[in-house]
Amino acid sequence: MRKRIVAGNWKMNKTFEEAIDLVSEQIIAFRNDKLPKDIEVIFAPPFPFLKTVSVLIDIPHVHVAAQNCYIEEKGAFTGEVSASMIRSSGAGYVIIGHSERRMYFNESNEFLAKKVVIALKAGLIPIFCCGETLKDRKNENHFNIVKLQLEESIFHLSESDFQKIVIAYEPVWAIGTGITATPAQAQEMHAYIRKLITDKYNHKVADNISILYGGSCNAKNAKELFANPDIDGGLIGGASLIAQDFVSIVNAF
Ligand code: PGA
Repeated sequence: MRKRIVAGNWKMNKTFEEAIDLVSEQIIAFRNDKLPKDIEVIFAPPFPFLKTVSVLIDIPHVHVAAQNCYIEEKGAFTGEVSASMIRSSGAGYVIIGHSERRMYFNESNEFLAKKVVIALKAGLIPIFCCGETLKDRKNENHFNIVKLQLEESIFHLSESDFQKIVIAYEPVWAIGTGITATPAQAQEMHAYIRKLITDKYNHKVADNISILYGGSCNAKNAKELFANPDIDGGLIGGASLIAQDFVSIVNAF
């Protein structure tokens, strides 16, 4: 049975105090609402808050993710953070290949392939992001782009490693724009990703992997998106910065 997951990507937002307030408010809500057993909630705060947020979280099925990691284990890489540092701070997940990393930091598919490996080695679960730009979609190249991202960044994994990861489909044109992919567009791509995984690995692996949707997913549209058979939850940006909105998205299942 694949997991249903809602992950909040805070990006470069919140001060330390604001981060504590945000997470505390949500913990109270999740404790009171009794999170369903098969739903996982993930907070992805900025690096400096990982340890504190991990310590604050004291309910089952709620986890912490980093938003990025470096490709090396340790050494002279000023300003970078390794997967094992993240793991030792209490996080269990790491977002890899977010389109903002690809766009602003020139992270290529090949570079991301290394991150996925180092994250798994450190015991972290990668949340691997893929998705096409508006130009790709207009040129009807979106399936090819996503296929290449999977082929070059995660299809080198062994079957047992592949089964540990989570995928997030995030069309770049929908991120932070207020334009959400329609449930039909998202479902179509999620089903396509699952088919690629069936072809590369097998039906069982494809059936068990969680594929999240990301891109202007909010309290209003989450229900309609999550109702689709191949959409197993969301990677939420803007709406994860408002406690009540994020809690509503989790409750949209
Ligand atoms: P958004 O961001 O929800 O603000 O569109 C999603 C993401 O970047 O993961």
